Amino acid sequence: MSGSYDALYQAWTSDMEAFWADRARLLDWSRTPQQVLAANDPPFYRWFPDGELNTCHNCLDRHVAAGRGDQPALIYDSPVTETQQTFTYSELLDSTARAAGAFRALGVDRGDRVLIYMPMIPEAVIAMLACARIGAVHSVVFGGFAAPELASRIDAATPKLVVAGSCGIEPNRVVAYKPMLDQALELADHAPASCLIKQRDAARADLIEGRDLDWDQALAASAAADCVTVSALDPLYILYTSGTTGDPKGIVRDHGGHAVALANSMAMTYGLEPGEVFWAASDVGWVVGHSYIVYAPLLHGCATVLYEGKPVGTPDAGAFWRVISQHNVAVLFTAPTAFRAIRQADPDAKLLQEYDLDGFRTLFLAGERADPDTVRWAEQVLDVPVLDHWWQTETGWSITGYFAGTEGFPVRPGSAGKPAPGYALEVLDDDGHAVPAGDIGALAVRLPMPPGFSPTLWGNRERFRTAYLDAFPGYYSTADAGMVDADGYVWVMARTDDIINCAGHRLSTGAMEEVLTQHADVAECAVVGVQDRLKGQVPIGLLVLNAGVNRDPGAIAGETVQMVREAIGAVASFRTAAVVQQLPKTRSGKILRNVIAAIADGRTPKVPPTIEDPSVLDGIQSALGAVGLPRE
Ligand code: COA
Ligand code: AMP
Repeated sequence: MSGSYDALYQAWTSDMEAFWADRARLLDWSRTPQQVLAANDPPFYRWFPDGELNTCHNCLDRHVAAGRGDQPALIYDSPVTETQQTFTYSELLDSTARAAGAFRALGVDRGDRVLIYMPMIPEAVIAMLACARIGAVHSVVFGGFAAPELASRIDAATPKLVVAGSCGIEPNRVVAYKPMLDQALELADHAPASCLIKQRDAARADLIEGRDLDWDQALAASAAADCVTVSALDPLYILYTSGTTGDPKGIVRDHGGHAVALANSMAMTYGLEPGEVFWAASDVGWVVGHSYIVYAPLLHGCATVLYEGKPVGTPDAGAFWRVISQHNVAVLFTAPTAFRAIRQADPDAKLLQEYDLDGFRTLFLAGERADPDTVRWAEQVLDVPVLDHWWQTETGWSITGYFAGTEGFPVRPGSAGKPAPGYALEVLDDDGHAVPAGDIGALAVRLPMPPGFSPTLWGNRERFRTAYLDAFPGYYSTADAGMVDADGYVWVMARTDDIINCAGHRLSTGAMEEVLTQHADVAECAVVGVQDRLKGQVPIGLLVLNAGVNRDPGAIAGETVQMVREAIGAVASFRTAAVVQQLPKTRSGKILRNVIAAIADGRTPKVPPTIEDPSVLDGIQSALGAVGLPRE
C-alpha cells in the first residue's frame, strides 16, 4: 500500500461500501458477498451479510495452496520452558486439522462453543484455529483469571468442550490450571461434555475418568477435518471483557467482517508484507492476542511469534531484543508497560548491544495511554518509529493509528494518531453535540462501525444497545474521554466508566468492589485506580467497616486482598486496601471516586460543591498515607 493517509481516509469517506468491498478481495470466499453493508436494523449493522467463507481456510489452507507451505507460520519461543518450536504453514495446517477432527469426534459441531483456558503454548493457537475450521465458536479465558471468573464464563458460553493446559508458567511460580478448571466446573451450573487437557511437564494434571482426555492422545487418534463453509455473519469467537459491573461482557466477533478488517490492517496499519515476521507480545487471552498473535498475521501470510515469557525476568531485560533478533521480527506490538518494565531494569538499554536488530522496523504500542516519556525512550534506544494506536476489545482492531502502510504523518508523542479509515470519530459533550477542536469530551464513533466491530454481546443484544449505543444515539460510545486537536490528532485521556488499565490488562474496579463487599466486616467500599510507574494504574481499595467491628483493620484489609486474588485472579493486581471511617460522597450519596484517586496520586482533587462532608477527606488522606500513598 502507498499513498497518503489523507487520500486513504478520503477514499473511505467518499464511499465506505466500495472501500470495504475492495478490502474483501484480500480473502478467499466460498460465496463472494454481493451485499457489503446491511443497514436495515439500525443501530445494529452487519457487514457482508450474504458472504460465505472459512476463517481457518483463509489463515492456513489457502497459503499452503499458494506455495507458502514451507514458510514459518508460528514461532513458539518459551524462555520459561527453554523451548523453541517453529511450525511451517503446512505443519500448522496439519496440527489444526487434526485438532479439528478431535473436536468433532467429541461431538463439537458448527455453532457449538469451545472454551479454551490455556497458557501461551502452540496448542492454544491450534485450538482456536481448529474451532474456526469446523465453525465452532471459541471462548478463550485468560490464564491469570481465578476459578470463579472461569466459572462465570463457562456458564455464559455453555461450551460443549473445554480445552485446557495442565499449567501455566510464571517466572516466580507454576500456576496449576487444571485444579482451577476442576474448581470452576464445580462452581458452574453448566457441565461441558468433555475436557481436553494438554499435559505439561511442569505440573501434570490428574484426569477425571469419563470427562477428561489427553490432548496428545486425542490428536494422535484423530483424522484431519476439513474446513466447513460458514456465513460471514456466524460467530467466530466470544471474548469476555470487563464491563461496568462484575458481570463480564461477551464480545462477539463474526467471521466475515473480522477477517476483512484484520487482513486490511496488516498492510494499512502495520505496513507488513506477507512472509515477514510479526510479534504481538500480548497473551492469547486478550483481544490483542486474538487479533494479532493469531488471526491477522496468518490471514496476511506472515509468521507470528508466540512468546511465553515476560519483558523482564525471563531471564533479563534483554529478552525482547533477543526474540526480535533471533526470529528476525520486523514489527513488534506490545503495551507501554512492557517498555516501562524494560527501562526500569536496564535504563540505558545496555543489553541491546548484545543483539542485532537490523531487520526491526517499527514498534507499535497500545492497551493503555502511551506516556510520551516511554515513547521517547523507546524511540531513542531502538531508533525506529514508535507508533501508538488506540484499541478496544469491542473493536478488535485499532480505532486510530499512524498507518505504517501509508506515507503517514509525523508522530506526536502522547497522541494515538488519527482515525483509521473505517471510523468517523467525534468528540461529544454530555448532550451529544460535537465540541470544538482541542476541547475534551466523550470519544464517540458515528455508526456504522466498521467490519470487525462486535455486532452484539453474546446472548444479550439489549445490553449491547444500552452499554454502547444509547448514550449518544447514532454513535458508538467508546467510554473513553479525550480530544481531537486542530490537526486531527486524537488524544485519549481516560475512561469515563470504572475500567482501569493495569499492565495493559483491562480491569473493572466495580467487579473488585463486588468482591470486597462480600467480606463479613465490610459495610461499604470503593476501589479506584491509582497511578503506578510500571503498570500505569493499579487498583486500591478503601473499606468502611460494619459498626461494632473491632478486629485489626490491617488484618481485614489483608483478607480482602486475598479475596480478590481468589475471586478474580492474580491478574487483578489488587495489593492495597485501607480501612477508613467514611467514604467521601455527594449529598445524593454518590461516592467521589475521582477525589479518592486524586488524593492517592498526590494531585489536587476537584472537590465538587455537592460534597456531603468535606472533613471526610482528611481521614482518606491519612489512611492512604498509612499505606504509602501517594507514592514518591
Ligand atoms: N497466568 C497466570 N497468572 C498470570 C498470568 C497468566 N497468564 N499473567 C499474569 N499472571 C499473574 C502474574 O504472575 C502476577 O502474579 P503475582 O501477583 O503472583 O506476582 C499477576 O498475575 C499480575 O500480573 P501482571 O500485572 O502482568 O504483572 P507482572 O508483574 O507479572 O508483569 C509486566 C508486569 C509489565 C512485565 C507484564 O504485565 C507485561 O509484560 N505486560 C505487557 C504486555 C501485555 O501483556 N499486554 C497485554 C495487552 S497488549
Ligand atoms: P482493551 O479492551 O483491553 O483493549 O482495553 C481498551 C481500553 O484500553 C480503551 O478503552 C482505553 O481506555 C485503553 N487504551 C487502549 N489503547 C490505548 C491507547 N493507545 N491510548 C490510550 N488508551 C488506550
